[in-house]
Amino acid sequence: MATNRTFTMIKPDAVANGHIGNILAMITKAGFKIVSLKLTQMTVADAKAFYAVHAERPFYGELVEFMSRGPIVAAILEKDNAVSDFRTLIGATNPAEAAEGTIRKLYATSLGENAVHGSDSDENAAIEGAFHFAGREQF
Ligand code: RTP
Ligand code: MG
Repeated sequence: MATNRTFTMIKPDAVANGHIGNILAMITKAGFKIVSLKLTQMTVADAKAFYAVHAERPFYGELVEFMSRGPIVAAILEKDNAVSDFRTLIGATNPAEAAEGTIRKLYATSLGENAVHGSDSDENAAIEGAFHFAGREQF
């Protein structure tokens, strides 16, 4: 069933580089309502589970190490067409290919360290949101 929510993380690179405020401002200006929000850190086990879909990919180990190495900002966002509109706002996975004005174009440093995560489907948005937030943390 289609929903109007997506899930995002501001990744450890963007948090370490001081971009939390600017990225949240872009998200708000683009019309997303913040449903849930926290600064947290994933353990290695958390990152492995979160990205289990990529377990067979050559970059999996690097991705797990990166995503667990420092704090992240996790958030559930609400807007019409949330998953697709948020993927447009963040831009292509590789910042070198990301459109001008997108979050990754502005704040990502490389393909591996690309500043933000965005869910790729309504189904995964619900799974990923529930991974990080209890029901009483969702507004
Ligand atoms: P995300 O899930 O984080 O929103 O990113 P995405 O959908 O745009 O890209 P995806 O294919 O799901 O890849 C997940 C994350 O893995 C890292 N990656 N590294 N070194 C590489 O070749 C490579 N490819 C992907 C990136 O951090 C990517 O966002
Ligand atoms: Mg993805």
